[in-house]
Amino acid sequence: MKTGDEKILFDSLGDMKRTHNCWELTAKDVGKEVILMGWVQRRRDHGGVIFVDLRDREGITQVVFNPKINEEVHRKANAIRNEFVLAARGTVVPRPEGMINPKLKTGEIDVMASELRILNMCRTPPFVLEDNAQVSETIRLQYRYLDMRRPVFQKNLMLRHRTAAAIRSYLDNLGFLDIETPFLTKSTPEGARDYLVPSRVNPGQFYALPQSPQIFKQLLMLSGFDRYYQIVRCFRDEDLRADRQPEFTQIDLEMSFVREDDVMAVTEGMMTTLFKDILGVEIEHPFKRLTYEDATGRFGLDKPDLRFGLELRDVSDIVGASEFRAFAEVVKAGGLVKAINAKGSINLSRKEIDDLTELVAVYKAKGLAWIKVRPDAWQSPIAKFFTDAEKESLARRLDMESGDLVFFIADQSKVVNEALGHLRSHLAEKLGLINQDQYQFAWVTEFPLMEYDKEEKRYVAMHHPFTAPVEEDMERLTQDPLAVRSRAYDLVLNGAEIGGGSIRNHQRVVQERVFEALDIDRATYEKKFGFLLEALDFGAPPHGGIALGFDRLIMLMAKQTSIRDVIAFPKTQKAACLLTGAPCEAAAAQLEELSLKVRLLK
Ligand code: AMO
Ligand code: AMP
Repeated sequence: MKTGDEKILFDSLGDMKRTHNCWELTAKDVGKEVILMGWVQRRRDHGGVIFVDLRDREGITQVVFNPKINEEVHRKANAIRNEFVLAARGTVVPRPEGMINPKLKTGEIDVMASELRILNMCRTPPFVLEDNAQVSETIRLQYRYLDMRRPVFQKNLMLRHRTAAAIRSYLDNLGFLDIETPFLTKSTPEGARDYLVPSRVNPGQFYALPQSPQIFKQLLMLSGFDRYYQIVRCFRDEDLRADRQPEFTQIDLEMSFVREDDVMAVTEGMMTTLFKDILGVEIEHPFKRLTYEDATGRFGLDKPDLRFGLELRDVSDIVGASEFRAFAEVVKAGGLVKAINAKGSINLSRKEIDDLTELVAVYKAKGLAWIKVRPDAWQSPIAKFFTDAEKESLARRLDMESGDLVFFIADQSKVVNEALGHLRSHLAEKLGLINQDQYQFAWVTEFPLMEYDKEEKRYVAMHHPFTAPVEEDMERLTQDPLAVRSRAYDLVLNGAEIGGGSIRNHQRVVQERVFEALDIDRATYEKKFGFLLEALDFGAPPHGGIALGFDRLIMLMAKQTSIRDVIAFPKTQKAACLLTGAPCEAAAAQLEELSLKVRLLK
């Protein structure tokens, strides 16, 4: 690369030392000689004078190359292109009248350059390094280091850093100890698949990467470290979505001699402190608490978004005996009919209603019945089936007024709640009912201890098998296991599950009874968790804890829609790193050392 003067570029840093950051110079610095270093955001040539916006991680300063001030430096500046790396020495001068940029922190000054070193050049970037640049995520992930030069990333990752620092300080003040736990370990049951790591010195044997430090943090309680925390990486081989990564970070904590309220109080204190100190937002507290039954019954989902209404109403008693067969038969078979009144939404078109029907079909709903309340009559494919008395009851139960649009789903309760729960969130978004500046936290409690897994044909723990049952429900463990409530709690923020935890089984007999209720036989649980059961025999204190999804929390604090936007080097939906090309085949020599041979089964 040549300059206008045909000289080879690239200067060394030499003895130049940066004196200031690009964001911090103000009118107070006028007259000072400064040295700035950074990247060229933009270069403009205005009638012989060259203006360069020099950027570092927090802002930009305009550096001016004026031939009348320094001809040689100006000549060199001709070679500058976007994203070149520069060191510039110069004097801080006030901007001329009318050129002040009030939107910029450094908008009152310029740096008049007296020396320029071009530290490196830059090929034309594969995309414009600005927020809102239209570019595919594939390209962005491949050139992640460039993508992260965009201001939004600089902000997100700084927010992430500041939040982590504030968490450490908050927990340190409360006497929590940061203790590391192993990554090369044995399978921990959090419900996802494990990542396995082959052992060279134990041919044919594997470590599992931890899905969470669950067992180790419980063992730390046994050792007497009664308040533990870690901001820790966890690994889960599961299907990825916008809020799931194969490796993600938890704020993990555990406490001894506590009940639910104690863990919740520490967590609430952490959240209110973070939001106040980092975002300047006062969070209403204590947080609302809902039982699992209440959450799923009123909002459809176990992670309800409480920023808007649109609650689900059960109308089974009204329509169960009606002429509409689809409803009556479901009720007769033990199912439910529930409705949502989308107030004032009568103008939704037929096509829009069809789209909503497709949306609920994803959650296995067999249809989406609706009624539009016109001033004179109901417009609906199903109104004709109802008697006047039934209509009157529906109108009262659902608060139906002229202009409303009401949706119904009939099915088994799980399908009804889930489908209407997702419809509810979708409608709120579509109808603009969500205040994007609001942060609505809630606890969901009294989860069932276990659920029935149709595919595996057995009971599985809803959280994990170390969660304690509610004491008074213990006796139902063998007779009616699905009715047993657990001492688990989830923390929900704006409809996202950002944390989960529980009080644990600290007595061996109780833990064994839970394993047995989960259809795990003695031989299996002894083999897998015998070390934990044995440990419980050596004076385990009552204990409980929680883990918060750090990436999800930062995503919501930064008002982003994907956790990939708050993780420096995330993976794609296929769990690949497009930047480095991981995963990839292993070299023959490496496999040899591990005594492994690869033969793909499919
Ligand atoms: P749980 O499995 O609920 O609990 O995980 C805690 C929180 O971690 C976040 N999370 C994820 N974030 C991003 N990508 C993922 N793949 C992912 N999976 C989970 C969620 C979730 O609420 N050991 C227990 C905690 C305990 O009982 O103390 C545990 O890991 O925000
Ligand atoms: P049909 O009589 O099957 O044509 O259905 C009439 C209306 O009721 C249509 O709008 C269907 O979408 C709706 N519908 C049918 N089955 C159900 C169901 N299980 N839950 C809710 N709506 C239904």
